[in-house]
Amino acid sequence: MHNSSDHKKTLSIDIGGSHIKATILDQEGNSVKEYEKTPTPSPASPENLINAIKNLIKDFPPYDQISAGFPGYVKNGTVFTAPNLGTDLWAKTDLQKLLKDTLGKNAIVVNDADMQGMGVIDGKGFEMVITLGTGFGTAFFKDGFLLPHLELAHHPFSKKGTYDEYLGDKAYHEIGDDRWNKRVKKVIDVLKTVFNYDFLYIGGGNSSEIDFKLDDNVKIVSNRQGIKGGPRLWQQNESVLGK
Ligand code: BGC
Repeated sequence: MHNSSDHKKTLSIDIGGSHIKATILDQEGNSVKEYEKTPTPSPASPENLINAIKNLIKDFPPYDQISAGFPGYVKNGTVFTAPNLGTDLWAKTDLQKLLKDTLGKNAIVVNDADMQGMGVIDGKGFEMVITLGTGFGTAFFKDGFLLPHLELAHHPFSKKGTYDEYLGDKAYHEIGDDRWNKRVKKVIDVLKTVFNYDFLYIGGGNSSEIDFKLDDNVKIVSNRQGIKGGPRLWQQNESVLGK
């Protein structure tokens, strides 16, 4: 039996530190529109970001609802921090309402790693997702359900700084492939001991730079897979919003 929500199309937007990506997906996660991306504007103020999104999707076909992942701490659709875009520019911005008011459809906004994670997980057991991009994103799932977001990125990892500083894109360019890979390996070993995940997924733009062998329960995933989290977020609407 199908109900009308089975046919809903979701505009899925992944807001990153370097690029904004968007696509439209059906409820099964199949793309209705080819994935498009544009550089994240600088300064990445709410106004500039909304304009960049409007421009990016101007030729997109119709959609029914919106999902967006934002690179910072988001609670009930409101941004509290935006470490890589500017917390001063964003704090207390109700991005969920802003997207709804601008684009005229209901929106759900969560942390970017949470949304990407929804797109890549299998839905079984305790799954952890990390993203290696501008910053270090993390998300946790139990039997497919999104668990509360932790800003693990800002937990000090070593005397070299937080996970963000230790593994982020800036560090990658400063120390180069070999040293960065050694750091990633060290972090994965710690995560394995601390979290005892059943499965770990590694996404984000720099995940393709990993050059060492991963355990059987660790897998590299793409941003294209991650953006499929958009429709899944709507399917889990209630639990995601903490209602
Ligand atoms: C932010 C996280 C975000 C991650 C990846 C970190 O700097 O604190 O909220 O998920 O970057 O974008």
